[in-house]
Formats: sequence, structure tokens, C-alpha cells
Amino acid sequence: MYDYIIVGAGLFGAVCANKLHNAGKRVLVIEKRSHIGGNAYTEDNDGIHVHKYGAHIFHTNDKEIWEYVNSFAEFNRFTNSPLACYKDKLYNLPFNMNTFYQLWGVKTPLEAQLIIDEQKKEMDGIEPKNLEEQAILLVGRDVYEILIKGYTEKQWGRSATSLPPFIIKRIPFRMTYDNNYFSDRYQGIPIGGYTRLIQNMLDGVDICLNFDFLKEKESILNQASKIIYTGPIDEYFDYKFGPLEYRSIKFEHERYDNIENYQGNAVINYTERSVPYTRIIEHKHFEQISTEHTIITKEYPAEWRVGDEPYYPVNDEKNMRLFKLYRDLSNKEEHVIFGGRLAEYKYYDMHQVIRSALQTVSGLI
Ligand code: FDA
Repeated sequence: MYDYIIVGAGLFGAVCANKLHNAGKRVLVIEKRSHIGGNAYTEDNDGIHVHKYGAHIFHTNDKEIWEYVNSFAEFNRFTNSPLACYKDKLYNLPFNMNTFYQLWGVKTPLEAQLIIDEQKKEMDGIEPKNLEEQAILLVGRDVYEILIKGYTEKQWGRSATSLPPFIIKRIPFRMTYDNNYFSDRYQGIPIGGYTRLIQNMLDGVDICLNFDFLKEKESILNQASKIIYTGPIDEYFDYKFGPLEYRSIKFEHERYDNIENYQGNAVINYTERSVPYTRIIEHKHFEQISTEHTIITKEYPAEWRVGDEPYYPVNDEKNMRLFKLYRDLSNKEEHVIFGGRLAEYKYYDMHQVIRSALQTVSGLI
């Protein structure tokens, strides 16, 4: 008998398992995939740790969370400095003085601000009706056309003029020559990959892989008095009210045995609509790994259907109404705790999902 069955070996499940196990509870983690780690999973490919479900960069301002993750793995100081490629020209991200220099040749913040203010004028007195107008109102036409339009349209699978304006609330500018994408105090990648970190979290915990809780729960429910469920909430209730919508991504991994360094940077965004992928990731640059081969991943945004991997929740009004129906049902499941990105139908960064799991579990021990 176990005190808890935890469904899902992603970060939410692993943090709960770690804390409960350390508190002397008997815990079983079950996972339908053939590996632990959830979407943060990294796979070793001859020394390169491949982020199989998209690039994962740990960043946080929360000192306690930073110290917590560092107790399971040593982190390097990786600073995310992505580039954008548009019509064969490269631009620095996030939008900063380097970008403005590359766009217009301006060298001072005042010169850059004058151009932006001038370009924003085309929206004077106009209430933005769609994402395109909203973006031009915030940043002017050049930054929008070159760096935002195509990328956003690929991400959503729709034209920017048919997307609602509220998707872009703010577009931060940095009026300094600073390519550090995140402004958080702590940032890095666990040396050896995320799988090793999560393996260390699960040290001593029973784990059962390739086991789909929803398909086989009758065989296991009598083995624990409480369940922590981190899978999709709508699937738990057999899509009773219909499926919650997601955007999906198809990842194409390519290995080059004769190329040591494919693109010279971990992340390059492709902001033209005509290039079908949104980004190319070169994994070895996350950890400055020295190998003769390299692995790159192209990310293609994709429509999502039930059965596909869910990545980004579409938290619009319609889906949030649906989610509330499922959440009300979940509140009636006395022996089940729902948590994590899929059960809460919420985009969480890693530090946020860890914080949420720590809060959940603190009420149990
Ligand atoms: P997660 O999905 O990781 O784990 C849930 C687990 O439950 C899965 O392993 C699943 O197989 C399992 N499961 C589901 N149903 C089951 C069933 N019926 N039976 C058994 N097992 C079941 N964050 C960040 O801080 N920095 C970053 O750079 C990124 N990058 C990033 C890129 C992309 C493309 C995405 C989509 C997301 C990110 N993230 C991120 C967010 C990060 O991925 C996220 O915070 C964590 O994966 C959330 O962990 P969970 O445990 O909630 O879910």
C-alpha cells in the first residue's frame, strides 16, 4: 500500500514525490511515457542533452526555488540571448539598442526612441481592433513587420489581423545594449540535463513507467488512499464537456556528425512567415558541450487535436469557461489533488510549477 499515487513524472509530480517521500510517506509515481521528466525531459545523445519537448531555460527571481533546484544539480550560468533571422539578416533579441542599431543604424537611445515614436503615430486616435494594430501602436511598423508579424502568425496559425489585440499587452523595449532575454536574477541550465536533476528528486521513490493511469486505474486505485493527478483535467473526466484547446508543436531533431557548430547560438527565431518553423535550437550551446557532432531541432507550430501532445493552453474566454466546469467537478473528487500545467490548464514556467507543487504538498505534511 502507498499513501500517495502521483500521476505524472514531470516537475509538479517529482517535487511532490520528493517532499512526501522525505516526510516519510510511501509514494508511487506512475508515468505514461517511457521516461521521467515530463516536458522538461532531456535525452542524452553522445554527450549532448537534447531538450526533446522544446528548449528549457531555468530562470527565476525566487531565491528559495533557485536553492531548491540547485540542491539536485549544479547549474551553469547560461544567459539566453536569442537571435531573430529575417530575410537572411540577424537581429538581437529582446528588442534592445543592438536591435535598433541593426534596424536603423541608430546608436543612442534618444535616436531610437524618436524613430519608434514617429512610427507609432500611424495609430494616433485609432482604437486597435486586432493584434497587428495593437503591435504597431506599441512598437511601430518596422519592429512589427520584421520581428513580430510572421512569428506570431506561425505560432497561432492565423493572420495577425484576425487575432484579437489583447494577446499583446506590452512589448518591452530595453534602451541599453543588453541581449539578456530574461531579467531574472537567477538563470541557468542544470549541468548534465534536466532528466538527471529530476532523477535526483525522485531518488528512493517507486516509479512505474509506460503506465497510463486513466486507462488502467481500476487495477491500481486500491493501492493508495490519495492521488495527485498532473495529467489533462478534461481527459480525467473523459472530455465530458468537450476538449480544452491547445496549440501544439512538432519537433524535428537533426543530427550532424560532421558539423561541430551549426548556428553558433542556442536559439535562433525565424520571423518570416514563409519559413515554416519558428525556431532552431542547437542543444550543445546550452551547456557549452564540446563534441564533434551537433544536434539541432526545428520547431513547427501545429494545430492540436485530442491525442496530440498539448503544449500551449488557449486560455481564451470559451476555454476558460469550459475549464471552470471541469474545475468544479475536480473539487468534488475528494481523494484526488489536481496540479501542474495540464490539470490546471495553465502555462507555468518551471520555477512557477515548482512553487505551486511546494505549496500543494506543504498542506499534506
Ligand atoms: P509536464 O507536462 O511536464 O508533466 C506531466 C506528466 O504527466 C507528463 O510526463 C505526462 O506524460 C504525464 N501524464 C499525463 N497524463 C498521464 C496519465 N493518464 N497517466 C500517467 N502519466 C500521465 N519553462 C521554463 O521555465 N523555461 C523554459 O525555457 C520553458 N520552455 C518551454 C518550452 C515549451 C515548448 C513549453 C511547452 C513549455 C516550456 N516551459 C518552460 C514550461 C515547462 O515545460 C513547464 O513548466 C513544466 O513542464 C510543467 O511541469 P508539469 O509537471 O506541470 O507538466
